[in-house]
Amino acid sequence: MDELKLLNGVKIPSIGLGVFLSNEGEETRNAVKWALQAGYRHIDTAKAYHNETSVGQGVKASGIAREDVFITTKIWNEDVRHHRVREAFFGSLERLDVDYIDLCLIHWPVNGFPEAWSELENLYLEGKIRAIGVSNFHVHHFDELKNTLRILPMVNQIESNPLMNNQKLIDYCQNQSIVVEAYSPFGGTGSKLFENQTLRQIAKNHHKTVANVIIRWCLQRNLVVLPKSVHQKYIESNFQSFDFSLSKDEMEKINSLNTNTRSGADPDNFNF
Ligand SMILES: NC(=O)c1ccc[n+]([C@@H]2O[C@H](COP(=O)([O-])OP(=O)(O)OC[C@H]3O[C@@H](n4cnc5c(N)ncnc54)[C@H](OP(=O)(O)O)[C@@H]3O)[C@@H](O)[C@H]2O)c1
Repeated sequence: MDELKLLNGVKIPSIGLGVFLSNEGEETRNAVKWALQAGYRHIDTAKAYHNETSVGQGVKASGIAREDVFITTKIWNEDVRHHRVREAFFGSLERLDVDYIDLCLIHWPVNGFPEAWSELENLYLEGKIRAIGVSNFHVHHFDELKNTLRILPMVNQIESNPLMNNQKLIDYCQNQSIVVEAYSPFGGTGSKLFENQTLRQIAKNHHKTVANVIIRWCLQRNLVVLPKSVHQKYIESNFQSFDFSLSKDEMEKINSLNTNTRSGADPDNFNF
């Protein structure tokens, strides 16, 4: 599997299993176990997903060593607003039942995020986290951090899929070597992208699924991609995205599907 290098040299596997809306308990435990057994080495969770305990159990059940798995979690908005980053971080560590986190992100740019970033920097400098980053940050949020930061965020996790490719923001981040992670790559739960005729034709050309084509399109744009599924069949087939490549023409066809339509919330206009 491919890996990308973060600004501090830490390597991040370029496909991570997403577990948003994956239920605590058997559903998440199995999804994580199946993913790791299929070759994934990266799981993307968050306090707000209420399934960190099951993620930790799934890692153990997989038989894959902890140090071979890249675990990401995120600091939730209320903890940012109320200056509880340290407590929130240790809560995640306890639920995941691990003694370090590979990547910890500020989930959304809510009031107090510069102070939250400073506390995340402290935890990183104390050696509790291998890498730190942000999520849902626009350029102006990076600008707000500029005056106080000691460490540039190593990652920005944002929505990116064929209907909302977010390419300008990706270019801004990649120009500074900030690794971009694509969330909701398929357009989230209930997405119509699986029926898109352009994507279906490209998938047919390669004897692959639409999901493989989208994942491949993300990989060829040097993104980390975070496909979510709770079904073993999808988890396994989604990982089969390293043995083919899209032509320049196919990449451009997918780029041209962009309508700037988000499946998730707008980081400049949300109410949670
Ligand atoms: N930082 C943030 O604010 C943020 C926001 C959103 C998401 N994320 C992260 O990004 C991850 C992915 O995003 P997402 O969960 O919104 O959605 P997504 O990965 O774009 O789409 C997930 C949906 O696609 C279905 N699916 C997966 N593989 C499929 C396949 N091969 N064929 C047909 N359907 C398939 C899943 O079904 P089943 O599950 O039923 O199999 C699920 O309904 C999240 O889980 C989370 O880790 C982060």
